[in-house]
Amino acid sequence: MVVVRSKCKTGIEGLDNILGGGIPRGNTVLLSGPCGSGKTTLGMEFLVNGAKMDENSVFISVTEPSSKVITNLRGFEFFDENLIKKERLYLLDMVSLYARLGMEKKDYKIQEIDPLINIMEDIVKKLKVKRLVIDSITAIAHQLESRVRIREFVFNLGKTLSDAGCTSLLISEVAPTGAWGMTPGVTYSAYGVEEAIADGIILLGAIERKGYMLRTLHVVKMRGTMHSLAKYILDLTPNGVVLVPLLKWGAESG
Ligand SMILES: Nc1ncnc2c1ncn2[C@@H]1O[C@H](COP(=O)(O)OP(=O)(O)OP(=O)(O)O)[C@@H](O)[C@H]1O
Ligand SMILES: [Mg+2]
Repeated sequence: MVVVRSKCKTGIEGLDNILGGGIPRGNTVLLSGPCGSGKTTLGMEFLVNGAKMDENSVFISVTEPSSKVITNLRGFEFFDENLIKKERLYLLDMVSLYARLGMEKKDYKIQEIDPLINIMEDIVKKLKVKRLVIDSITAIAHQLESRVRIREFVFNLGKTLSDAGCTSLLISEVAPTGAWGMTPGVTYSAYGVEEAIADGIILLGAIERKGYMLRTLHVVKMRGTMHSLAKYILDLTPNGVVLVPLLKWGAESG
């Protein structure tokens, strides 16, 4: 008998169809792409849609204060600040994580993997978190420095989040390839170890068509579900992410 895993509906137009209904619950997914490809927006829309369905959702901003993240989000119609007041959506940054550890930022060394995982586990359990986005796992990996430690961190984090029933997107910054940069080939992460441990990879990128840069998305892998391997055009609209099959887009635009 085939056991169908419960799915975490992203609510993003087109993505749930690509994923056969959503991300299998408990999966830790790498959301990879170069700068400006839409990673933060897609991750935040995933959380906002979850919060609107009464699933507690947490965004952890590693590189910038959460106040700045909120300011950028106000430009999108899908964002509803009441979700923060209702304690369905939480935006945390490293300063608030350190505070939970009872430390000031200057006293803390991110090289200590266990406290960081413990604090994330504590947040997920105390706030009954169903969806988590870390923006970005690359920023944490930079500070862990060695590939062995990055592997250990991502593996332990993924297991902890999955055991807590949390579906997570780990944002991974990669160098531009193809049309958006000069580097040939495809990469999913800065250190090349994160993708092997992740349960899924959603890859954002870009192609050039008639002088315009088009954002793209395709699902490279997603453990626990069948999914489309087709490449889609990712349109960032005021309402959020909209995905259109690349072939269809090509046919319509000639
Ligand atoms: N209100 C809006 N409506 C539509 N598109 C917008 C809006 N605000 C910003 N954008 C687009 O979103 C892009 C940024 O997307 P986003 O921040 O999600 O990318 P990212 O992959 O997280 O980038 P980075 O690597 O710099 O963090 C901007 O370059 C802009 O084109
Ligand atoms: Mg971003």
